[in-house]
Amino acid sequence: MTGPATASQNSLKERLAVRGGQALSGTLKVSGAKNSALVLMTASLLTSDVVELCNVPELTDIAGMVDILRCLGVRVERSGDRIQLQADSLSSAEPPYELVNSLRASFFSIGPLLGRLGQAKVPLPGGCRIGARPVVEHIRGLKALGAHVSVEHGSVNAAVPGTQPRLRAAPIILDCPSVGATETVLMAAVLARGTTTIENAAQEPEVQDLAQLLNAMGADITGAGGPVITIRGVERLHGVRNYSVIPDRIEAGTFLIAAAITGSPMRVEPVIPEHLNAVLQKLRDCGCRLEIDDAGIMITPGQLQAVDITTQPFPGFPTDLQAPFMALMTVAQGTSVISEKIYENRLQHIAELQRMGASIRVEGSTAIVEGVPQLSGAPVTGSDLRASAAMVLAGLAAKGVTHVSGLSHLDRGYDNIERKLSSAGAVIERQDIRLTDKIKKVE
Ligand code: EPZ
Repeated sequence: MTGPATASQNSLKERLAVRGGQALSGTLKVSGAKNSALVLMTASLLTSDVVELCNVPELTDIAGMVDILRCLGVRVERSGDRIQLQADSLSSAEPPYELVNSLRASFFSIGPLLGRLGQAKVPLPGGCRIGARPVVEHIRGLKALGAHVSVEHGSVNAAVPGTQPRLRAAPIILDCPSVGATETVLMAAVLARGTTTIENAAQEPEVQDLAQLLNAMGADITGAGGPVITIRGVERLHGVRNYSVIPDRIEAGTFLIAAAITGSPMRVEPVIPEHLNAVLQKLRDCGCRLEIDDAGIMITPGQLQAVDITTQPFPGFPTDLQAPFMALMTVAQGTSVISEKIYENRLQHIAELQRMGASIRVEGSTAIVEGVPQLSGAPVTGSDLRASAAMVLAGLAAKGVTHVSGLSHLDRGYDNIERKLSSAGAVIERQDIRLTDKIKKVE
């Protein structure tokens, strides 16, 4: 490997060492939402003016999106949590396969490229460990808006016919409330001729954040956050300054679970409570007291009781917190039934939790978790972004040291998680596994 390794390359040689049993205290700070920032960045393709975002998290996925947008000719400047993007001289409508393949969210560029340029050629994002991740709904939506779309040689080729390529509005009904498909159609429809409606739209806060940014850029969108979104097409969009990305509800939920699993009264902020209502209810049901104010949440854990979870589209319990919450249930009193209804293969963290002494039985897409008094530290690997977070949470409560590998996943979605947890008192450190002889602090 020549040259400095990238963050993700380093992650392959690193692990987190977590010494369990340590109480936490103080405040855990929540960064901007990954799943909002990524799609807001692609919205910059819709105008030649500057789009400036703030509260952007420091993640390898964000760095990946910067690379992809620069390949398309977007000028991108990053300073701290602020990113300025300007697509005033796009040089390509085809993000490179290698970059798209490593970052699914880059597929969202197809909608704005089509809306702005009248054409786009975006590699099909592969499946991933949690599921096939099809994009049928994205393609159906673009075809409904008048685009000719074909899938050839692993890429989705989309083009608007005619000499003045402009999409035309249409009534669209999604077969499933897909977050990505809703966002793709939203961004394609804002410059279309006429009024588009999206029924069975995804209602996630990240969809609302995108609609809010687009409206700040001059779009005319109503109903985002509900099941029917109306988009009145406009001629052009203008730039926006200082648009703040919403706080990451999944990171906030992960931190609330960190407090619960270590029995630590903690404050987590900033949080927009209505972005997490289903999770907050489950935390109350399992014995935690929550004091909510307009800046954040104070959690005071009690004796953990088992509760049942079924993942659903928003406003139901989010699939991205299923693995973290399962870690919590492994040490709760009683039996918890956890059903994963969104992805077909998002139970791989069970085997790793079992290595730590968890008692879990799997029946199809449902896990039956018998709470045990305590987990025991072990070397484990996170199979996806949220499973990796679940391993860290389990390590915080386990007896002894847990070595969590798979940090390339973790670093995609959590902004300096070990620094934040350390600041709250966790005994956790990132270790280079090639230098094990130099490791002393945590062991
Ligand atoms: C977004 O993915 C998030 N990613 C995911 O977060 C999140 O888990 C997911 O929404 C659900 O909330 C980003 O926003 C970058 P979907 P997305 O399309 O848009 C099926 C994380 O950990 N489906 O709503 O790809 C699909 O197979 C990541 O941060 C179709 O059947 O999710 C899945 O079962 C993981 N056909 C379900 O819908 C389609 O055309 C949800 O997918 C599209 C999706």
